[in-house]
Amino acid sequence: MPRQTLARIHLDNLRHNFRLAGDRAGSARAMAVVKADGYGHGLERVARALSEDTGHYAVACLEEAVAIRQAGLTHPVLLMQGVHQASDLPLCAAEGFTVVVHHKHQLEWLESGNARPQVWLKVNSGMNRLGFAPGEVRAVCRRLVKAGIAVTGAMTHFACADDETSQRTKEQTLVFDEATASLAPIERSVANSAAHFRPGQSMFDWTRPGVMLYGSSPMLGHHGPELGLRAVMTLESRLIAVRQLAPGEAVGYGEAWRCARPTLMGMVCIGYGDGYPRHARSGTPVGIRGTRAPLIGRVSMDMLAVDLTGVENAAVGDPVELWGRTIPVDEVAACAGTISYELLTGVTHRVPRVEVNDEETSGLMTGTVS
Ligand SMILES: Cc1ncc(COP(=O)(O)O)c(C=O)c1O
Repeated sequence: MPRQTLARIHLDNLRHNFRLAGDRAGSARAMAVVKADGYGHGLERVARALSEDTGHYAVACLEEAVAIRQAGLTHPVLLMQGVHQASDLPLCAAEGFTVVVHHKHQLEWLESGNARPQVWLKVNSGMNRLGFAPGEVRAVCRRLVKAGIAVTGAMTHFACADDETSQRTKEQTLVFDEATASLAPIERSVANSAAHFRPGQSMFDWTRPGVMLYGSSPMLGHHGPELGLRAVMTLESRLIAVRQLAPGEAVGYGEAWRCARPTLMGMVCIGYGDGYPRHARSGTPVGIRGTRAPLIGRVSMDMLAVDLTGVENAAVGDPVELWGRTIPVDEVAACAGTISYELLTGVTHRVPRVEVNDEETSGLMTGTVS
């Protein structure tokens, strides 16, 4: 008998969000970023669901690119960190994976080997994570071309695109443009999700939306629905105990929360062992019977407590939404001092993912469980 703690995956909403990204990309095309197990939604599942909408996928590493082929998809795939060892290059060439080159050791692997995958250059326009300095780009490109490698693209990544008040994205865009303009006719890419929401942002040829595809806001201080995005994951569980507590009684580990008044308390069958954030503070909302109820006390590994005082007729067995359709994951993340990316990618394997279409959302445990 399953616990009835599950993550419902709304594939129609995923497609809606991808189309929104495409609209906001203007004349550029959007490639679907499906790394980190499709931001926790299941890499093969989301790749398949987007296969008719996207012309390209982006992943972090080779294993993720291989998973796309294992899903039966033949689309181009961009490995955004490139390869981590020279011996992976022949597979990339054979499978048609486009390999990012961000460092001179990767350049040397290509020069000294026989594999000839397509390459995108990573330019460090100021984030200082990965990439060649703008002044090195032309020389790196010349070396690759001399080695018989097709350099088909260039990309950079933004440090502060989520911050509407920051000028850094404009500056990074300019640095990237100047460093790569003379490399044309290669394809160029700068935009993560947040850049899709920055008025006047240059999009170049390809955008790389990630978190927005999953319905979460890439912009600081916003929730996904405010930006027209729809939640793809609804994390759900059930009430497994309801108890009346008297003023002064405490709840959970460390007795970290104490009743100020008579309190109807409910235990929900989900905890940090499922990926619900242990640092979610008292007051973090959950949804029960169409009402928002506050989390109280510390989150345990397998359960958490909520104050049911404002929820009419709450009873054992009631479904509880931790995030998704009515409780934005961005709001839960803010209450836990983190970002939605961490919550979505942190849902553990203990939680079955259930694929649904929007028409099927009533009642738990419908759809395909995996
Ligand atoms: C290089 C690169 N491009 C695009 C993305 C997608 O970013 P976001 O999920 O903020 O859209 C990421 C995510 O970390 C990334 O590392």
